[in-house]
Order: sequence, then structure tokens, then C-alpha cells
Amino acid sequence: MNFGFIGAGNMVSAIVKGMTRGTGSFAGENIFLTSKSVVSAKKLAEECGANVCQTSLEVIEHSDVVILGVKPNVLAAILPQLQQAFAKKNPLVVSIAAGKTLDYLRGYFPEKTGIVRVMPNINAKIGASTTGLCANEYVSGEEKQLVKDIFSTIGTVAEIEESQFSIFSVIGGASVAFAYLYMDALARAAVKAGMPKKQALQLTAETVLGSAKMVLEGGEAPWPLIDQVCSPGGTTIEGVTALQAGGFEATLVKAFDAVLAKDKGIGEKK
Ligand SMILES: NC(=O)c1ccc[n+]([C@@H]2O[C@H](COP(=O)([O-])OP(=O)(O)OC[C@H]3O[C@@H](n4cnc5c(N)ncnc54)[C@H](OP(=O)(O)O)[C@@H]3O)[C@@H](O)[C@H]2O)c1
Repeated sequence: MNFGFIGAGNMVSAIVKGMTRGTGSFAGENIFLTSKSVVSAKKLAEECGANVCQTSLEVIEHSDVVILGVKPNVLAAILPQLQQAFAKKNPLVVSIAAGKTLDYLRGYFPEKTGIVRVMPNINAKIGASTTGLCANEYVSGEEKQLVKDIFSTIGTVAEIEESQFSIFSVIGGASVAFAYLYMDALARAAVKAGMPKKQALQLTAETVLGSAKMVLEGGEAPWPLIDQVCSPGGTTIEGVTALQAGGFEATLVKAFDAVLAKDKGIGEKK
């Protein structure tokens, strides 16, 4: 089975490296890559033992599964020119374009084309993406499993109802930036108090990692855990109440809503 990628930027690089190097479950010789300049595709192909193609048409000709890895606004420019090639080869189509719905995508392919919408995140670079996917009615169970296998090489994969996909895009996608921001702000506060940045960031990241494991594996929800950390009249409660007085939770909800609105906006734009 052959896998084609149109686009060879940040996300496709992480996926192809995961497929060929991570668990090693996919062979580079079965992967076909192209990009606008072809330079990035060539570099990635060399790194992963994959094949480079001069055009997207060539990628489609070779592939049983085609992964659309260009920016969302580029899709509308390239898909009309690729319609005949898709109709002739009829591969399974996988899109990682943020905000582009199954309904939007189906307009560019023959009726009954199997289409899978996938949302990985940048932690894919170290095999730690939280990836969401949904598929249309023409994707078989086997095909869905195949796509899950591809994205399992870069982290965890969850099937998400398409009606909840924008929500997932905030929680599983954009929120990585929120987490980076939280860690950087905390580490900078430690710098202000006199600790070197590198050490502060290391300690902050380890604490976030430990706290995430506690929520995932410890069997307790965050609020009971917060109560356990806050001794009466102690130090931590001072920080928790200061965060609340500063609008920490309300600001997070606002950030969530802003990303959600933008994601839905991209989906509606043709
Ligand atoms: N980055 C993330 O964190 C992230 C997370 C989730 C989803 N995504 C989705 O992943 C997709 C790619 O994002 P990215 O961050 O990887 O973007 P990127 O690094 O800018 O890569 C875009 C790729 O598209 C190629 N390209 C542009 N026009 C093309 C054309 N006409 N034909 C063929 N290839 C073309 C570019 O070629 P050149 O290399 O030659 O310029 C480049 O390799 C987007 O749809 C995005 O929504 C990204």
C-alpha cells in the first residue's frame, strides 16, 4: 500500500518521520512526497527513504491513501486542478487542514470518495500529538484503522464526532500554545525571583507533566487535587486565589471561545 503527501512542511515532516522512524511500521519506499518548491519534499524524502514527486498529480497516481498537508487556504487553489486525477485513481483522502469540514472537502472529490479529517498537534514532532479524527460514511472500518495506525506513530488518536471537531481543535490543537505560554510565564516569574530561566523552565515543564499524569492516571479530578495542595492559611491558596482574582479561568474560557470562533470561520470560508 502506498501513501502520498501533498505538502512537506512542519506537520507532514512530523508525520512522515513518525511513520518511518518512530515505530518503524511504514516503509519509506511506500511513501510519495511533493511540495510547492519540491525542495522540502526532497529533503524529507532523503531523510526518511521516501520517494519525491515533481507534482501533486504524480503523488496521486502512485498512492492508495493521499494526505493533504497544505495550509487550509491552499486547498481551494489546488484541489480543482486535481479532481480528474482523484477520480481516476480514487484513493482514500485524508485532510489535516484546520477548520476544513468533511462537507467542504467532499465537494472536490467524486461521490462516494472516502474522506478522513484529522487534526494532529505540533507535539507530533516528538511522538506526543493528541490527534482527533472523523470520517465520512464511505470510509470502511479497515480504512479508518489504517489512518489511526498512521497517526498512532506520532502520539495518541481519538475518534471525534464531527459536530465536536472544532471543540477538539481547541482542546487538542490550539491549547498546546496555551500550555507553552503558561510554562513560559511561570518560568519567567521564577527568573524575576532569581532562578536561571533554563532551570526554571525544566522544573515547570516537569511539574506540568507530573500534574497531567496525576489527572490521567490518579483517578481524581483537578478540583479535589487543588484542595489537597491548598493547606488552610498556607502558601498555595494565596496563588490560587490570586489567579482567580486575575481572571485566570475566565480568560481561558475567552481564549477557548476565540479559537473556536476562528476555527468555525475557516470551515465556512470557501
Ligand atoms: N503546524 C501545526 O501545528 C498543525 C497542526 C494541525 C494541523 N495542521 C495543518 O497541517 C497543514 C500544514 O501545516 P504546516 O504547519 O505543516 O504548514 P507548512 O509548514 O507551511 O507546510 C505547508 C506545505 O505545503 C506546501 N505547499 C504549498 N503550496 C503547495 C502547492 N500548490 N502544491 C503542493 N504543496 C504546496 C509547502 O511547500 P514548500 O515547502 O515548497 O513551501 C509546504 O511544504 C495545514 O493545513 C494545517 O492546518 C498544522
